[in-house]
Amino acid sequence: MKLIIHKLISILLPPLAILLLLFLFPPYLIFKYISHKIRSFCREDVAGKVVLITGASSGIGEHLAYEYARRGARLALVARREDRLCEVADKSLELGSPDVIVIPADVSNMEHCKRFIDKAVNYFGRLDHLVNNAAIVKLGMFEDVTHVSEFAPTMNTNFWGSAYGTHFAVPHLRKSKGKIIVIASVAGWMPLPKISFYNAGKAALVSFYETLRVEFGSDIGITIVTPGLIETDMVQGEEFTSEIQVGFIPSESAEACAKAIVASACRGDRYLTEPSWYRLTLLLKILCPELLDSICRLTLFGRRRSSKKTS
Ligand SMILES: NC(=O)c1ccc[n+]([C@@H]2O[C@H](COP(=O)([O-])OP(=O)(O)OC[C@H]3O[C@@H](n4cnc5c(N)ncnc54)[C@H](OP(=O)(O)O)[C@@H]3O)[C@@H](O)[C@H]2O)c1
Repeated sequence: MKLIIHKLISILLPPLAILLLLFLFPPYLIFKYISHKIRSFCREDVAGKVVLITGASSGIGEHLAYEYARRGARLALVARREDRLCEVADKSLELGSPDVIVIPADVSNMEHCKRFIDKAVNYFGRLDHLVNNAAIVKLGMFEDVTHVSEFAPTMNTNFWGSAYGTHFAVPHLRKSKGKIIVIASVAGWMPLPKISFYNAGKAALVSFYETLRVEFGSDIGITIVTPGLIETDMVQGEEFTSEIQVGFIPSESAEACAKAIVASACRGDRYLTEPSWYRLTLLLKILCPELLDSICRLTLFGRRRSSKKTS
């Protein structure tokens, strides 16, 4: 009986779904366009609000601090390099932030995460935006690694480093009806070789925060950001560029990316892909994944495919 039901659903559902899509998609697009315009008009003013940014000592996180500072937000900046954080704090104050604190911490350590959330809330008395941005990338073909646990820090920083902070921030964000901004990556759906654990961590982030969005309802807004190739230390270092061919992919400055992220968070968007043309790669993944696999393999072109073969 169950088999017949499944067979019937398999036969009837596809044409029904196509019909529904044909009728519902145009009004859905109009609805999305109008709601985007309304959100742009009624966007959040973050002046005086409290924003905590992890990974604020360089790259996108550093420029997020400057963009929030220009809008008058008070900032709590978190990363491991205290000297760099202090430089970012000074510039943020110059750009218009009324108050900035730096909290040196390692996001992969749960106790550190509790400490930086407590410290920010004790100092400012509230928390409005939590920006989970800190991440690392470790390069290597999966089969080349001797101890697979070498990749554990990638997951501990990129996934758990967001989950821990979020856990301790939620009660405060509920009080302020605040927001969580998650910096994931297009790598969450693009199977880029040599960074399999980075890709997996980013995909996990998207799934995790999509689930939290359903659990939180409208109490806490969640903006999931999926940047493409952005000009930062992470992808411009000698190690990355000698292993992965990214020269043929157009990149964007960290400043432009940060501006787009803060604007999107203030509008209360659910998702942001920056630059926006990367959204086409998601369509490619759904419609012809084989082609996306081939494009991703191009990043190996002229680079070492396996250290075992070359050593
Ligand atoms: N650049 C790109 O093309 C690109 C593309 C898609 C997504 N992203 C994402 O954008 C975010 C920012 O990366 P980025 O490109 O700006 O790279 P980045 O310049 O290397 O910045 C990474 C930041 O994370 C911090 N960090 C790393 N591990 C940490 C830890 N355990 N505890 C606390 N802070 C830690 C680093 O500071 P310390 O070393 O001082 O701790 C640094 O401030 C990441 O989530 C990355 O995955 C980047």
